[in-house]
Amino acid sequence: MNESNVTIMTHPLIQHKISMLRDSRTGTNEFRKLIEEIATLMGYEALRDLPLEDVEVTTPIETCMTPMIAGKKLAIVPILRAGLGMVNGILALVPSAKVGHIGLYRDHDTHEPHEYYCKLPDPIELRTIVTLDPMLATGGSAVAAVDFIKQHGGRKIKFMCIIAAPEGLARLQNAHPDVQIYVGHLDRELNADAYICPGLGDAGDRIFGTK
Ligand code: PRP
Ligand code: URA
Repeated sequence: MNESNVTIMTHPLIQHKISMLRDSRTGTNEFRKLIEEIATLMGYEALRDLPLEDVEVTTPIETCMTPMIAGKKLAIVPILRAGLGMVNGILALVPSAKVGHIGLYRDHDTHEPHEYYCKLPDPIELRTIVTLDPMLATGGSAVAAVDFIKQHGGRKIKFMCIIAAPEGLARLQNAHPDVQIYVGHLDRELNADAYICPGLGDAGDRIFGTK
């Protein structure tokens, strides 16, 4: 599906790897690898509109004008903690990218996000920014993260998640219609504890082996 600012992935490799992530028998080591691999596959799609400029290159045969990525280096901004798991997957595609961090955690009772850290590469307003979080549940964390990035001057913002709930996707789209959203799989719904169903459980705990 590619509806205005939302792209839902359909590639079989992404779908297969997401199914492996969901399996409660998948251990920490394999879970981390899968998150990274999925981020790389999704990144390939999410970065297809990076601007190009022709530069002069001398081949062994002759000198020619040939396209290379233009402008300031990409900014990758994981939402702590779970977004960290996706960073190396994007760096595999764009090794020279700058990495910022936004620290947010969801209150267990209210499900509202609380900020504890924000550091973004300068000049953020000139960079394409790829915000990373494997889970888009109520959408509270994603909306808050994009709010912070915009407050710091960020303009060209993408948001990449591996699993989204319809509620969170709608909330992010309504709050930030200018943000390009990339979703690995759109799940059914949230449960009473605001967990995604069928989902994969708590992404941060599964990446870092905590409980
Ligand atoms: C998880 C996840 C998202 C957020 C999604 O993080 O990584 O950031 O919940 O939920 P939302 O859409 O309802 O805001 P969590 O707050 O559990 O923190 P963690 O990554 O440190 O585990
Ligand atoms: N955060 C997660 O890690 N998983 C969910 O299902 C919802 C929020």
